[in-house]
Amino acid sequence: MFVEASAPGKVILAGEHFVVHGGKALALAIRRYVRIRVSPTDFPLEIYHSESGKRDYVDSHGRWVSESRLKDLEPIEASVEAVFDYLGQRTNVRLDISSSIPMSAGLGSSASLAAAIVKGVSHYLGHELDRGELIEIASASERVVHGDPSGVDLSTVVSGGLVLFEGSFKRVVKNIRDVDLPLVVGDSSERRSTGVLVGNVGEISKKYGKIFSHLVQTSDMIVERELEAIINGELETLGGLFNVSQGLLYSIGVSTPKLERMVSRAIDLGALGAKLTGAGGGGCMIALTRAENSSAVVKALEDLGGESFFVQPDSVGVKSEAHF
Ligand code: PMV
Repeated sequence: MFVEASAPGKVILAGEHFVVHGGKALALAIRRYVRIRVSPTDFPLEIYHSESGKRDYVDSHGRWVSESRLKDLEPIEASVEAVFDYLGQRTNVRLDISSSIPMSAGLGSSASLAAAIVKGVSHYLGHELDRGELIEIASASERVVHGDPSGVDLSTVVSGGLVLFEGSFKRVVKNIRDVDLPLVVGDSSERRSTGVLVGNVGEISKKYGKIFSHLVQTSDMIVERELEAIINGELETLGGLFNVSQGLLYSIGVSTPKLERMVSRAIDLGALGAKLTGAGGGGCMIALTRAENSSAVVKALEDLGGESFFVQPDSVGVKSEAHF
């Protein structure tokens, strides 16, 4: 018997970073996936990485025999162990992992990996966990990667659809499915660490106290208004709010010259608005395009940065299936 599980990626439409400080965030699950297959093995834990062809396993003495960097295995092991601890049950598992979500790029690859593992391994052990349980367990490995994540990434990739996340309550407050927006993603190809960026913004929040609190409030208003604009189909307003959101993110030091160039180029070509998405410091940006200019925007972002693609929303979230 084996189990296949998958979890989507995500883009954040507003509120990144401010959500770590008690604010709100609006995020959309996208059809880029981490896929895993959970099957039996003679080792306590065995991992195959489809893209790199690397294989790692824990031997009978509990030691890693690995082709990958141990640092990259930590979140995987943390997710598996968190499931075993939560269920009070353990078994040997082999994980075959593949992903179409670029790593360290702001598209939620680490949250998707954690969610897919927790869903797949718990199903393999015969348990159907609810969303709250999946999020709670998967947070263990998110903490290894990020330090103190808000939970917006995990909530989005577990639930699917468009998610309004209320940071201070650590819960999803609205989940809207079947959202269709003319969004394009552009990858700056600059890799960075979410944990470092969250730490830098933490310093800024301490330094600017009250001013920073007002930025959080402004960000919350952008989140609320973006949601309303999406529900009412006000695309021009939504685009304008992407630009305001980008201004706020620039002001807290998480944009880069390359991201700024990509944002400006998309707007020059007629996009309704553009902003970085996720932790910034590199990684990806998103542009809200019009049908007539979207291909030109994709091409320009590819020339300036790296991979660029049209967003297709995912409305399902994490899922798994057993095969006998
Ligand atoms: O790790 P990323 O780039 O997908 O971004 C996470 C969003 C942040 O708000 C920067 C961090 C968080 O925990 O919410």
